[in-house]
Amino acid sequence: MTIKTIGVVGAGQMGNGIAQVAAYPGGLNVIMNDIAEPFVNRGYDTISKNLDRLVAKEKLTADQKAEILGRIKKSTNVEDMKDADIVVEAAVEREDLKLGLFKKLDEICKPGVILATNTSSIPITRIAGATKRPELVIGMHFMNPVPVMRLVEIIRGLATSQETYNATEALSKQFGKVPVECNDFPGFISNRILMPMINEAVYALMEGVGQPKAIDDIMVLGMNHPMGPLALADLIGLDTCWAIMDVLYRGFGDSKYRPCPLLKKYVDAGYMGRKSGRGFYDYSK
Ligand code: CAA
Repeated sequence: MTIKTIGVVGAGQMGNGIAQVAAYPGGLNVIMNDIAEPFVNRGYDTISKNLDRLVAKEKLTADQKAEILGRIKKSTNVEDMKDADIVVEAAVEREDLKLGLFKKLDEICKPGVILATNTSSIPITRIAGATKRPELVIGMHFMNPVPVMRLVEIIRGLATSQETYNATEALSKQFGKVPVECNDFPGFISNRILMPMINEAVYALMEGVGQPKAIDDIMVLGMNHPMGPLALADLIGLDTCWAIMDVLYRGFGDSKYRPCPLLKKYVDAGYMGRKSGRGFYDYSK
């Protein structure tokens, strides 16, 4: 199937980033969907601001920006996905929600349409099992901030077909990304390695080994990481970090993945990181 229109379910920090790269440089028409107008509008405004930066740097003209934005249609009705040639789901990281969504998307979408998920840790095979088209379900895991990070981790479920893989790989390249393949295991490759590091940084904080800035400075200055693990956790969202650790802990049944209680405490307090204005650092000012 020729892919001209992509549906993106979820207009949050991952969803609007995916919508942006699909529209530019991907060149596709985009249907960006979320459950309520304020969420879709916020996602759309973020894309508009990101494109403004490209105009300011003279990488795009104002006319090109208008043309790109004009290809992004806002939607609050998931039924709009009936017009999509591929769907990428980037809703919140909750298994019950994703399973329900994929069952619905399977009913709404045309036959032959690939249903990709940006899940950071929920098994692709399980998500595929909620549909009658498991051969067309695949993991397309983008990194935050999506417009900047080059990787797309592509995850095959047990039944994912080679055609589905090939189409997803080609699309990732069309979006200006570098696809890297992996199999379906808890946390895939990215989060199996990244999240235990972040979790360990939270243990170091909880045990009083160092203050947030010291922990982050050590990883930035000593290991050349672009940002420290606690600042990165704030960027990703502490609720997402906790959810991924929980998936690793349950998925492997191994105590080495035990989520740090302090991480859970922050989430319980509503300290979700940058998006809530407070995480390990204060973003309210
Ligand atoms: N959206 C769009 N563009 C952005 C952006 C955003 N949110 N944030 C930064 N940029 C752009 C800037 O405009 C700038 O562009 P130019 O080079 O063209 O000027 C460029 O990125 C660099 O930005 P800054 O100079 O402001 O900042 P920086 O050099 O410190 O880089 C960073 C910021 C890219 C976030 C960098 O700190 C970094 O790479 N951090 C690590 C990010 C990371 O590890 N992401 C993966 C998280 S894991 C994940 O997402 C998956 C999961 O499942 C949890």
